[in-house]
Parts: sequence; structure tokens; C-alpha cells
Amino acid sequence: MEPQNLSIFAPASPPAESIRTLSVLVFVITGLIFVVVEGILIVLIVRSRRRVGDETQEPPQIYGSKPIEIAWTAAPLLIVLVLALVSARSLWEVRVDPPRPHEGSGALFVTVIGHQWWWEYRYETYDGKTLGFIAANELHVPASDGDIVRPVYLTLESADVCHSFWVPRLGGKTDLIPGRVTSMWFQTRERGLFVGQCAEYCGTQHANMLIRVVVDAPADFARWVEAQQQPAQEEPAASEGKAAFLAQSCVNCHRVRGTTANGSYAPDLTHLMSRDTLAAGMVPNTPKELRRWVENPQDVKPGCLMPAFRLDERKKKLILDYLQTLR
Ligand code: CUA
Repeated sequence: MEPQNLSIFAPASPPAESIRTLSVLVFVITGLIFVVVEGILIVLIVRSRRRVGDETQEPPQIYGSKPIEIAWTAAPLLIVLVLALVSARSLWEVRVDPPRPHEGSGALFVTVIGHQWWWEYRYETYDGKTLGFIAANELHVPASDGDIVRPVYLTLESADVCHSFWVPRLGGKTDLIPGRVTSMWFQTRERGLFVGQCAEYCGTQHANMLIRVVVDAPADFARWVEAQQQPAQEEPAASEGKAAFLAQSCVNCHRVRGTTANGSYAPDLTHLMSRDTLAAGMVPNTPKELRRWVENPQDVKPGCLMPAFRLDERKKKLILDYLQTLR
């Protein structure tokens, strides 16, 4: 897949901008300290090096100097104070309390649940209206435009261990902690794909717990929401495949809205084909990769919690054909 920008130095959202500003300031201050300290050290080493003929002479020994003591106590204190104040201001800017969902706010509220090793997105409300559907791994959000701001408020929870939601261009790392609720927000005018990564070691496939945030034009987002709210489409041609799917233990973990498959342990498959990738952003969502995944998920994502079901060729084909109708 094409390389994506994961740099904190290309912010596209206010919290990410605050973090970039703070990083640059801290880097400049600490960089200056480094240059001054190392500069003095090098000058003294060169100037005071031992020369031929002065083996017996010791340099003058100085004990105690009030002005110097005061200077090297006050200067670091001042620097630490400045760093503490700007850090506090940045924290203040990043941590915004979510407002109450109401019409006209343009705000999107999503609950993010971290699982080993994928993301569940429960769409709560948009602009005060209840959404009530669940998506996985690809987070669609509306772009701000003109004077209209469309902030996105995420409530973060974990289903198992600690994870951390991190999309560098949109905001800072926010941990998902079992038994606790955390939150973060972002908003951007830039449309397109923003990638991220789970940033807290959470087990074997931590490195492949990828995040994709798709920022849509508001009209596209509305269309996407409308499609996601629909239950799974019925396609008569796939009815045999549907029956095969529902007869397997797939249904214990996966949900397909509109059918008896009602598991919540694994990604919701109601609109599986609307996603660009499989396995939390690991592989493109193509028939070939889907087949590989259904055949043996351990082959694609070793250690993942979906076992290989050793389906015979006929059942496999039926189920794959059915999955591909879930648009
Ligand atoms: Cu989830 Cu690392």
C-alpha cells in the first residue's frame, strides 16, 4: 500500500497543531542549551589542554562564588518554569470537554473500543441526531468547511488490554485503559485518508493494529452514514451462502445486522465490503485477500484471535460469495 504521512510535523487539526508547536519550542530550548553547554566544554578543553612544559603547574583553584551559584540556579529554574507553563497551556488546549450533543453543533460523537487487534467504532450522534450503528477499523468523519466546524469527539474504552489511539496529524496519543473511559477530539478541513497506529504495546499483533481515518466531504459523509445505517442487503443469489455462514461459528463473534449473527467479539461485518482494508488496515480488501483471511487468518495475521475453520472448498466458496454481498 502507498506510504502515508505519519509525521507530527504536518498537523491538520488543532490538537495536533498544539503538539507540534510545543515540540518545536522544547526542541529549540533544549537545542540551545545543548549548543551552549557543549560549546563551553569544547572551548575549555581546547584552551586549557596540557601544553609542553607545564607538567608541574596546576591551574588556579577557585572555591565558592555567590554570583555563579545564583546564576546557575536561577537560569535552569526559569527554563523549567517556561517549559512547565507552555506544557500546561498545550494540555489545556488539547483536553477539551465534549459539549452535550445538540443540533447545529455539527459535532460527531463516536465511542472507540480497542480490541486485540482491531478497532470498534460505535457511532453515537451526529449534529444531535442519533446514529446507532457500529463500524470497524475505518473511521469515517465529516470535514469542516467554510465557517462550519465539525468537531469529532471520541470516547475511548478497551475490551481487553491497554491500547493507544494515535493519528499523528489529527491529535496526540490517547490511551484506552480497561475499566476507564478517556476522550479526545479533533477537527480538520483537509479531506482524505489519515493513518495512525496503536501506540501502546498490546500483544503479538500490536504493530498491525492500524488506524485509518477517512475525512469525507459532508455530503459524502451523510451518504456513508445512510448506507451504514441500513441492515445487510438481502441478495437471493447468495441465500445459500448466507445459510452456510449462519450455520458456522462465525456468528458467535461477528455481527451482520438483519440476520441472526449477533456476536460483538469481532468486527461487525454488516458492511464489510465498504471498507478498503481487512485485518485492521493490514491488507487491501480484495477477493484474494478475503479468501486468504477466511482460509487461515493465522497466515495473514499470526496470533490473531480468529481461528482457521478448515472449511471444505464448497462451503468456503459459498461463504466468500455471501461476504462479498455485504456492501
Ligand atoms: Cu493495541 Cu497496541
